[in-house]
Amino acid sequence: MLQPAIQATGVVKWFGEGEARTQALRDVSLSANFGEMLYIVGPSGSGKTTLLSVLSGILRPDSGTVSVEGADIWSLNSDQLADFRLHKIGFVFQDYHLFPRLTTAENVAVPLILKRMNWGDAIKQAVHYLDIVGLKGRAELPPVKLSGGEQQRVAIARAIAGQPEILIMDEPTASLDGETGQGIVRFVKQNILNESRCILIVTHDSRIYDFATRILKMADGRLAGAEKREIL
Ligand SMILES: Nc1ncnc2c1ncn2[C@@H]1O[C@H](COP(=O)(O)OP(=O)(O)OP(=O)(O)O)[C@@H](O)[C@H]1O
Ligand SMILES: [Mg+2]
Repeated sequence: MLQPAIQATGVVKWFGEGEARTQALRDVSLSANFGEMLYIVGPSGSGKTTLLSVLSGILRPDSGTVSVEGADIWSLNSDQLADFRLHKIGFVFQDYHLFPRLTTAENVAVPLILKRMNWGDAIKQAVHYLDIVGLKGRAELPPVKLSGGEQQRVAIARAIAGQPEILIMDEPTASLDGETGQGIVRFVKQNILNESRCILIVTHDSRIYDFATRILKMADGRLAGAEKREIL
């Protein structure tokens, strides 16, 4: 029996004021279970990044609830929320969000150090995960010296290095060639996903659709179920 990792109910999010006011999420409900690698697909501007931000404790919704492992995350105070993000969630941002003044290894090590791993072990683990995403030998470089696809892989290494219970990836293969993208998603499915973890991926990349255990479609701020075979 699959257990729910994330449950969202009636989530609404507006942006902007006056004429520019737009509704990014219109009454979105979703249940993502442990053991699932759930994909959300849909056109640009349909609300996918906004939804991931609300589910992971980054962006407060205007209404609706999000519970993770049964706890209502939007009733936590800001310290508890920061703690929740650090300990439960690994997040790959669509635009990477790397720290420009740190080396790639230090970027990957940051969440480990925040979780009180000692510096030497954190760097060792970071280098191991950089190796997994194909960036052996890049550990000492700052992000500015890397290509877009290499930066994206640093962001993926940072999110998976802490083996989070909930891994959320926003277009994780957008800057990668087919083989590299598939290799990383295959690794994540085989080595990170298990029955006490849940993986949520937003993607336009049909080359990785086959790894999904379930696919949902987003359109104009609304989420709908979809048959995987209808999308493939
Ligand atoms: N910070 C913001 N301020 C104002 N409007 C925003 C903001 N963030 C998102 N929006 C709007 O909300 C809607 C949904 O945006 P979102 O980034 O969630 O879409 P998306 O599905 O992730 O698109 P893409 O596939 O291009 O990444 C869009 O109309 C966007 O312009
Ligand atoms: Mg987006």
